[in-house]
Parts: sequence; C-alpha cells; structure tokens
Amino acid sequence: TTLADKAARAPKAELHIHVEGSLEPELIFKLAQRNGVKLAYDSIDALRAAYAFTDLQSFLDIYYAGASVLLTEQDFHDMTAAYVERALADNVVHAEIFFDPQTHTERGVAIETVVAGIERALADAEARGMTSKLILCFLRHLSEEDALATFDAALPLFDTYRHRLIGVGLDSSERGHPPSKFERVFAKARAKGLKLVAHAGEEGPPSYIYEALDLLKVDRVDHGVRSIEDPALVTRLADTRVALTVCPLSNLKLCVFDDLTKHTLKGLLDRGVAVTVNSDDPAYFGGYVNQNYLATIDALKLSDADVYTIVKNGFEASFITDAERAGFL
Ligand code: ADE
Ligand code: ZN
Repeated sequence: TTLADKAARAPKAELHIHVEGSLEPELIFKLAQRNGVKLAYDSIDALRAAYAFTDLQSFLDIYYAGASVLLTEQDFHDMTAAYVERALADNVVHAEIFFDPQTHTERGVAIETVVAGIERALADAEARGMTSKLILCFLRHLSEEDALATFDAALPLFDTYRHRLIGVGLDSSERGHPPSKFERVFAKARAKGLKLVAHAGEEGPPSYIYEALDLLKVDRVDHGVRSIEDPALVTRLADTRVALTVCPLSNLKLCVFDDLTKHTLKGLLDRGVAVTVNSDDPAYFGGYVNQNYLATIDALKLSDADVYTIVKNGFEASFITDAERAGFL
C-alpha cells in the first residue's frame, strides 16, 4: 500500500471546513430551482468554469453567490448531509465545522433556521460514527458591531446546542481586516467559555497571527502558513502547541503558493509546529480531505512518520474531549 492509501484509510479529524464551502455546483442548482433563486450562471458547467481564482477575494465573491441559494432549514440540512457523506467516504470520524451566519441573516434567514438544519444532519452523522462540533464564524469584512449583534442573536443557541456549538471563529477577506478589529466580540465569547479560532496568516502577514494569539487569545490558528516568515513566531507556535489548520489545495487554488512544492507545511512540521491537513472549501478547491493528503504527500515528499504526526495532530488539536469521543459524555 502507498502512503496516500494509508492516509486515506486512517481515521481522521477534519478541523477546517466551511460547510457553505462544501456546496457542490449540482446542489447549488438544485436548491436554486427548489427556491426560485436566480443565479448569475445558467448552467452547472458555467458555474464550475468560474472557479478559477486569483486570490482569496475572487473566491469569496463566488462563494457568497453560491450560498445565496440557501433559504430553508431543509437546505441547510441537505448541504450538511452531503458534506457528511463525503467526509465519511474519506474516513473522517470527527469534524469541526465552520458556518457563516451573517451570509444568511443578511438575506433574511434566521440564525435558528441555519443551525437547526445543520444540527439535524450532524445528529444523523453521529449515529453513523462521525462526531462533530460547530464553530460560528464572524465575517471580518463586516463591522465589529455586526459581529457583536450576531453573537447576541446566537446566545440562546450556545445553550440549546451546547453539545455541538462550542466556539467562534473569524473568516472572509483577511487583508485590511486584522484580528484586532474583533477584540471585543472575542472577549465576550471567551467570557462565555467558548473555544476561539481565527483565520490568520493565509494572505495576511505574521503580525495578524500575533494579534490572533495575543489579542483574541485563540486556541487554534486557521491556515497560519505565513508564520514561517517569522522564526520567533514559529518557535512560539511549536513551544505552545497552538495548532495550525492548514488547507493545502485551498492555498494552491487561491494562489497563496504558486506551486504545492513551495507549500510551508513541511517546513513548519519539521520545526515542531502542530500542523493539520484539512479541506477548507472542498467543493471549490478540487477535493475533500483525502485529496489534500494525497496532493501534499506527493508535492512535499512526506514520510510515513510525517503523515502519522499530521493525522495525530488532528485529534490532539480537536475540541472534543476523550470522554465524548469514547461516548461517555
Ligand atoms: N471563508 C471560506 N473559506 C475561507 C478562507 N479560506 N479564508 C477566509 N474566509 C473563508
Ligand atoms: Zn477557511
């Protein structure tokens, strides 16, 4: 068996997946038809042809357009159920899933509708051997006031769904929207005992990673691949074991690296950083988690020990407790 086969067969945790980024073109068109939503593309092929990105923003524009077909609880359920199928096929046994409520509430969809639909699919997944957590992400291109209002609207949900909805994150357009912009809302989430993550150092500089650590006090950094530009930061990440949720095919498709052989994952791993491999927005970036392992193993000539470490890091960096994983909580 090849190393890619071993990686594919291994039980894995996926810690960086935007559920809206798992919406395949076929399902986008099906939901558009079901809901009478007009799309700017007149066929599945035309939509897929638009998936040629030059940077993060060029992707986000299409990603938010795709999410515009989601209106009902059933839509959120169907999207999530489709992700669960793909994750199970890749032997993902635990997923920590992001969602972007502001993308939906600004179209008049209630946050309760969003979470109820996602939860129904994740409860079904549990019965099939896949545990999961849900992380509410704030859109950083919007104001902190908007994030604070979203947090307040979600407050009852953090209680109702306490087994699932365990943290907050920060995503969308990174450049010009540093973590410092969201210090107050993260302080509120921290006071509530929630887990904290933030996208940082995907396109943004190492200073954004320092801000995520020092100002937001995140438990994990999403992407963080530009940390390698600052040796003191790499040492700190390695010493504190604050994990990076790396998404290799995403970085390739969004031109963070012009070639996967130039990806910083292996350099970070060799310096003792707790890197993990994840799919980010698999419907848009050409593959689910096993594709990410396969491409990374090939491009970076990873060893068996490297891959084993990455898989293990996924479980160690996850927010699930041992008792929960064993079914005792
Ligand atoms: N939203 C969905 N995917 C994202 C990414 N890779 N970076 C920032 N925001 C996102
Ligand atoms: Zn992401």
